[in-house]
Amino acid sequence: MSKYCHDLCVSTIDRLSSKHVLLKLTQDTPLPKMLPGQFVEVRVDNSPHTFLRRPISVNYVDKRKNEMWLLVAAVGAGTKEMLKLRVGDNLNCLFPLGNSFTTADKLHGRKVLLVGGGVGVAPLLFQGQTLLESGNQPYFLLGARSASDLLELDLFKEMGPVYVTTEDFSAGEKGYVTDHTILQNEHFDFIQTCGPKPMMQSVARYARERKIECEASLENLMACGLGACLCCVEKTVEGNLCVCTDGPVFNIKKLLW
Ligand SMILES: Cc1cc2nc3c(=O)[nH]c(=O)nc-3n(C[C@H](O)[C@H](O)[C@H](O)COP(=O)(O)OP(=O)(O)OC[C@H]3O[C@@H](n4cnc5c(N)ncnc54)[C@H](O)[C@@H]3O)c2cc1C
Ligand code: FES
Repeated sequence: MSKYCHDLCVSTIDRLSSKHVLLKLTQDTPLPKMLPGQFVEVRVDNSPHTFLRRPISVNYVDKRKNEMWLLVAAVGAGTKEMLKLRVGDNLNCLFPLGNSFTTADKLHGRKVLLVGGGVGVAPLLFQGQTLLESGNQPYFLLGARSASDLLELDLFKEMGPVYVTTEDFSAGEKGYVTDHTILQNEHFDFIQTCGPKPMMQSVARYARERKIECEASLENLMACGLGACLCCVEKTVEGNLCVCTDGPVFNIKKLLW
């Protein structure tokens, strides 16, 4: 798949909380084809301490408006700088990078559960969109510390059933995603997950116990995003693999979790 390095224009900014922003980006020519699970390496201008690009998942693609969405949680200098962007600013993006979740065309007739935690919900909105477009109803299980950390909930609800857990019981069921009763009461054929590593590891344990096929999108620290610096490697049954080029999405059978 070809990669592009484009200055995309910020067309809309939705400030979801004091530390979360949804950036909608566009350009004059049609955006290239992207797949759910793929990511963008964003160049952070105006941040003297941020030399390397920062990886951010493709959150959604609005083909009608020729927009790509990025959902950003401000955790450090680079992402805090992204919070300061304004409508009309340019954002230099290298994309689309990495592999993808198993795509909707290969999931026909299978009941798919998308499990996200925190800002890890980002690529699941895009995967939900493609499942829905192919006539396959996606199911979502989303977890956060507190109700105010649940991101894009309304958009997920427009796509299908959404099950929620919060650690402080401010929304949905109390606890972690793997505590949700839906996992005991319903059967799913395929699970795709993204979020904090401990969350994905416990989702993987659940899937293994029930022999459900499962994919996890890893968020290892990255630098080049192109397989050159080896700073993102993950130990797997096939040896060390680069999360940026061999992933970020891995079938859990490959992972040493
Ligand atoms: C494939 C991929 C997709 C991603 N998608 C998104 C997304 O859609 N939205 C989003 O907000 N973030 C996403 N991330 C995480 C994001 O890249 C990091 O939060 C960002 O690089 C941090 O940069 P910074 O300059 O703000 O913070 P830094 O100053 O570099 O780091 C601040 C703190 O965050 C920690 N940190 C940095 N990167 C990560 C990471 N990947 N995992 C855990 N801790 C980290 C650092 O160790 C440090 O403690 C993704 C990461 C990967 C690898
Ligand atoms: S980030 Fe450089 S090899 Fe993956």
